[in-house]
Parts: sequence; C-alpha cells; structure tokens
Amino acid sequence: MAKAKIRTAETKDREELVEMRLQMQHHMEASNPRVWHVTIEGRQGFYTEVDEMLADQDGEIIVAEADEGLVGYTYGRVAHRANYTPGGVGFINGIYVQEHLRRRGIGTRLIQELCRFFKTHSVEEANLRYVLGNREAEGFWRSLGFKPVLQTANTPLEALERRLKRRPKQSKPYKQMF
Ligand SMILES: CC(C)(COP(=O)(O)OP(=O)(O)OC[C@H]1O[C@@H](n2cnc3c(N)ncnc32)[C@H](O)[C@@H]1OP(=O)(O)O)[C@@H](O)C(=O)NCCC(=O)NCCS
Repeated sequence: MAKAKIRTAETKDREELVEMRLQMQHHMEASNPRVWHVTIEGRQGFYTEVDEMLADQDGEIIVAEADEGLVGYTYGRVAHRANYTPGGVGFINGIYVQEHLRRRGIGTRLIQELCRFFKTHSVEEANLRYVLGNREAEGFWRSLGFKPVLQTANTPLEALERRLKRRPKQSKPYKQMF
C-alpha cells in the first residue's frame, strides 16, 4: 500500500468519519467492560457529533487517506483560559486507525499534523483521556510521552448502597489517627 496521505477533513468525509467514530467506540467498550456502552440513539448522535467537529472553528479533524478510502482520523480542539495554567491547552478528543494498518506510523503522523494545528493556536500542553485497559492507547500515548494524571471510577448504585449499609468501623480516638 502507498503511504497514506494526511490531510484536514472535509464535508465529503462525513460518512467515513462517523463509521470510524463508531469503531473507536466499539474498541473502547471492548477494552474495558465498565465503560458506558453507546445506545442506538447514541450512535445516531455520532452524525451530529461529526458535523459539529467538522464545523468547529476551534478544532480540527485530521484524516489519513489511502487508496481504499479513509484509514484513520484524529480530532483536537483548543481552549484558552485565564483561571488555570497552562492557559493554552489542546484537547485530543479521539484517534482511530483501521486495525489492519496499525503499527505503521499512521497514528503518529496524525498527531504530528494535529500538533501543527495546536502550535498555530498557541497551545502549550496537549491533553487527552483514554480508557484504562485500552492497550493500544496506553502504549501509543506512552510512546509520545503522555503520563496519566486523573482517574475516573464507577460502581453501580446498588453495589454502593450495599457497601454503605455495612456497619461502619468504630472511629479511632483522635490521637491514634496520627
Ligand atoms: C492507538 C492507535 C491510534 C495507534 O495508531 P498506530 O497507527 O498503530 O500508531 P503508530 O504506528 O504511530 O505507533 C507509534 C508507537 O506507539 C506505540 N504503540 C502503538 N500501538 C501499540 C500497542 N498496541 N501496544 C503497545 N504500544 C503501541 C508503539 O511504541 C509504536 O511504535 P512502534 O510500532 O515502533 O513500536 C491505534 O492503535 C488505534 O486506532 N487504536 C484503536 C482506537 C483507540 O484506542 N484510540 C485511542 C483512543 S484515546
């Protein structure tokens, strides 16, 4: 296969972007069963999501195009704020490369291009989220120097209530706590 072309997404890419967005969702759900699963209604919403991404003045979708069509994409958007430092942050809100073309540098080239977009918008730091247990994402982001800083956690409310009903431990006298 000839080297995939990296370019900015256009309106004509809509259908293929929605399909890859769905594949990325499937991949995340398969990586960790505790991830929220998208509903049929949610899938329909991917069209709106992609349309908003395509129209985003503060964001950019980068695609990788091969003879067979689009084989990957990433989407990032910039935010500038005064209440935290760094002020200029580039949020990477998804990346996907078709499974049969992974480990050939396409993901890295997509991020290189997104990085150029971030640079022209005075971004100081790149930020993203990935699912724990997503081995591809863990390896990929680690290779680019990303380090985890936050962890989200979930439990069904019923399980939480069961635990809360257990007899609480006797609180220790103040002195023994230190
Ligand atoms: C994550 C993903 C985009 C990487 O794309 P890619 O084109 O395969 O990435 P590259 O070929 O540029 O890989 C660059 C480096 O990342 C690391 N890496 C990539 N995939 C890896 C894996 N499965 N396990 C461990 N390290 C990995 C390696 O260091 C790799 O360099 P190497 O191949 O020379 O060892 C791709 O695996 C993918 O689409 N995964 C499914 C969707 C997904 O998880 N998206 C992330 C959501 S946050």
